[in-house]
Amino acid sequence: MPNKVLAPQSFIYKVNPDLGELDWNHICELFASVNWRTRTAEELKKAFSTGSWKIFVYKDDQLIGFGRTIDDGRYYAMLGDVIVDPDFQGQGLGKEIVNRLNALLQDYHFVTLTAAPGKGDFYTSLGWKKQTTAYIWPQGPKQLRQHTAEG
Ligand SMILES: CC(C)(COP(=O)(O)OP(=O)(O)OC[C@H]1O[C@@H](n2cnc3c(N)ncnc32)[C@H](O)[C@@H]1OP(=O)(O)O)[C@@H](O)C(=O)NCCC(=O)NCCS
Repeated sequence: MPNKVLAPQSFIYKVNPDLGELDWNHICELFASVNWRTRTAEELKKAFSTGSWKIFVYKDDQLIGFGRTIDDGRYYAMLGDVIVDPDFQGQGLGKEIVNRLNALLQDYHFVTLTAAPGKGDFYTSLGWKKQTTAYIWPQGPKQLRQHTAEG
């Protein structure tokens, strides 16, 4: 059962905290909670150590959401791994994570993201535009099915 809707000030946003102090097993569990299951704690920590920006959201001491940028520090940036704990979804946290990351990328030439299947409307509701010029080299039949017109 989802938690009741809490006031925005109930949540703490940490930008680029010390990654060594995070509980990566809990972060793995948050990935699993939204059915993204193929990552290990060690791989995730290594991946998050790249890129300029990471935002983590807390309710008291509990990590309940995050998102990050994957970028070259100047020209190209994409948003990735935006996840909100299912118990706290629908309270504006996803929107806040995306908008805060996006605000940090103002000087970049190209800011993009790949929506998870079925999540496109979440991004368009925040003002993102569908990119007509994006291409993917599918890394398997699942990506071909989920991310291309051929699928
Ligand atoms: C997608 C996700 C990050 C949204 O987080 P959230 O905290 O529940 O979303 P918010 O409460 O901030 O919603 C912001 C707006 O988007 C809308 N929205 C949220 N999820 C949506 C969806 N799946 N489809 C369409 N609109 C959606 C909300 O209705 C809200 O609109 P409003 O501002 O007009 O009320 C969250 O559902 C999640 O973690 N999903 C699993 C992982 C995932 O798919 N991440 C994104 C992949 S690219």
